[in-house]
Formats: sequence, C-alpha cells, structure tokens
Amino acid sequence: MAQHLSGPASLQGQVALITGGAGGMGRAIAQAFHGAGATVIATDRAEHEDVGDGIHYRQYDVTSRPATDRLVDGIVAEYGKVDILVLCAGIIARTPLADSSDDEWDAILSVNVRGVVNPTRKLFPLMCAQGFGKILAAGSIAAKNGGVASGPAYVASKAAVHGMMRWIAKAGAPHGVYANTLAPGPVETAMWANVTGQAAPSANGTVPLGRYGNAQDIAQAALFLCSPASNWITGTSLDISGGMWMD
Ligand SMILES: NC(=O)c1ccc[n+]([C@@H]2O[C@H](COP(=O)([O-])OP(=O)(O)OC[C@H]3O[C@@H](n4cnc5c(N)ncnc54)[C@H](O)[C@@H]3O)[C@@H](O)[C@H]2O)c1
Repeated sequence: MAQHLSGPASLQGQVALITGGAGGMGRAIAQAFHGAGATVIATDRAEHEDVGDGIHYRQYDVTSRPATDRLVDGIVAEYGKVDILVLCAGIIARTPLADSSDDEWDAILSVNVRGVVNPTRKLFPLMCAQGFGKILAAGSIAAKNGGVASGPAYVASKAAVHGMMRWIAKAGAPHGVYANTLAPGPVETAMWANVTGQAAPSANGTVPLGRYGNAQDIAQAALFLCSPASNWITGTSLDISGGMWMD
C-alpha cells in the first residue's frame, strides 16, 4: 500500500467497523476515522444512535454470534469489505473477588471477551482473504497493573483481550492482517463516571502528565494504529495512560 507519512493520517477508501460506537471512546474513534476519510459503521446496543454526521449506525449486540454474522454479511454486501475493526464495546464492575457472583463474571466475560471474539472470528478470515486488515481492541491498563477502579472480572477480561490480539497478530501477519491493543488508563467517559460516581475526578498526583485521559486522546492513538503510519507495528499493547504505566 502506498504510504504518505507526512500530513494527517488518511483512511481514504477504507471501511471501518466499530463496536461500542455510541460510547465515549468508540464515538470519538468513529468521528476521527470519518474525518480521515473512512466509511465508518458504528455499532452499539441501542436501536438508534446519532453518532455524528456521515457515520452509519447499526444496532449490534457483540455477545451474539448470529447477530455478528448478520451484521458483517450485511456490511460486506453493502460496502464490499471491512478493512478496519475497532473493538470498543465493554462493561465494568469493581466488586472484590470474594463478593463477585457467577452472573457478574459471566456478564463481563461475555461482553469483554466473547464480544471481541465474535466480530474478530468472523472478520479475520475475510481480512486474510483480502490480504489486508487492521484490528484494534480496547484493552486496559488494568491488564498490566491489576486495575485502577476495577474488579477482578474486568481485569481478567482485559488480560484475555491483550492475549487474543497477540494471537491474531501472529496468525494474521503473513496475510497482511494487523492486530493491536490499546491499554488506556482512566479516561473520562460514561464508564469512568459509572464506576467512580464522578464525571471528572482529580488526578490527585497519580498521573505523571497531570490529568486523566479523554476520548480524543484515545481516538488519535486509534487513528495512528489503524493507519498506514503504523505499518510495522503489530501485536503491541499501546500504553496510553499519561505515564501511569510505562513498559
Ligand atoms: N473509560 C476508561 O477509563 C477505560 C479505560 C481502559 C479501557 N477502557 C475500555 O475501553 C472501551 C470503551 O470504553 P468507554 O470508556 O468508551 O466506555 P463507554 O461505557 O462509554 O462505552 C462502552 C460502550 O459499549 C457498549 N456495550 C456494552 N455492552 C455491549 C454489548 N453487549 N453489545 C454492544 N455494545 C455494548 C455500551 O453501550 C457503550 O456504548 C471498553 O472496552 C472499556 O473497557 C475504558
């Protein structure tokens, strides 16, 4: 693929599918990718969402394999292909281990792990066959540091995502298919507010760069990892945490 590494990242001519696309990060990523020239299909649980001008929206529950087949088959029929898959659907709980229920583990693993497996399993062979694909999953700093405001089910689910993307990176590399993971620290979205009860808590000296993240911070990193500017990067977990985690 021809590359122009000066100027803003371009996704011109590419089709991007985003899960959790009505959430804080997913919505910002959808808008950034649309701005970079991609055809963007954002998906989320609700029947209708306005995710931004020019961005297509589909209702999609990531935990359902039949729904995955319907969604991807429909997109391929309409747009011809999917070049980029961004996996942002996720839920969180902060229940300590001894108090955590089977239902909570099932719910978190279902959305955060099965919800990454379903669309990836469906699209990976299609991307391999077309000789190109970029897959980017929302992991978490929690997979590395044991959690900031999260319980063990969430931490375990995100560790699984990082591992799964490394498997995809190895299997996909000979076919031009990339897989990377974002490892964000605390980002001010609905999820952060839900778990902490605070919309914008003070970073309280815990973040070297002095503030928590916002959705734009994540969208710019996602744009880099899904654009030709990162064409020698696969299997990485990008720390995006204001310096809270460094490896
Ligand atoms: N906000 C943070 O501090 C933070 C930090 C690290 C990682 N993350 C991860 O980043 C991703 C995006 O988080 P966010 O902060 O934008 O949260 P968010 O709550 O704003 O967005 C998550 C989206 O996932 C959707 N979703 C949940 N279950 C779903 C299902 N079954 N099917 C389809 N969609 C479903 C929700 O409706 C929501 O729109 C998540 O995977 C999260 O775990 C968040």
